[in-house]
Amino acid sequence: MEIGPLSTSQRSAAVALWHEAGLVVPWNDPCADLERALAGPSSAVLAGTLDGSLVTTAVVGHDGHRGWVYYLAVAPSARGRGYGRAMMDTCERWLADRGVPKLNLMVRASNDAVLGFYEALGYGRDEVVVMSRRLG
Ligand SMILES: CC(C)(COP(=O)(O)OP(=O)(O)OC[C@H]1O[C@@H](n2cnc3c(N)ncnc32)[C@H](O)[C@@H]1OP(=O)(O)O)[C@@H](O)C(=O)NCCC(=O)NCCS
Repeated sequence: MEIGPLSTSQRSAAVALWHEAGLVVPWNDPCADLERALAGPSSAVLAGTLDGSLVTTAVVGHDGHRGWVYYLAVAPSARGRGYGRAMMDTCERWLADRGVPKLNLMVRASNDAVLGFYEALGYGRDEVVVMSRRLG
């Protein structure tokens, strides 16, 4: 698998993968999220391609202080082969190359499978409460 910037021709496959991976919620528009991440100066959409097919994606970005990863997904048929770990390694390098000292993740507390994955990669749970308010 080769990881690099998502190409224009892979955009619809990325959104399809996010739907397939259960990452799309009614209150977020994945196409708008994708366009914003591609357009922003401090974000990127990364794609892992195997034999011409998109097998993994992630949106990575930072605010100068903390880095964030969203839309990490591996195609269901390609899971359990280390591609999720490889994509997270690439996101970490992307942030480290830009001088960002820390990567934060938001995972639903009920999502035990994904919490197990991130713990296997060395991520710990912080004692913080995330608060939010929708704008507009
Ligand atoms: C989460 C996800 C990205 C993992 O991708 P993957 O390619 O299957 O994961 P990997 O094969 O790279 O696994 C990496 C390590 O995590 C471990 N792991 C994975 N799930 C685990 C779990 N539930 N509990 C413990 N360890 C786990 C693996 O055993 C592996 O360990 P190793 O490298 O020491 O062998 C994938 O399941 C997915 O796309 N899920 C749906 C989308 C999603 O929920 N994304 C996250 C949004 S917050």
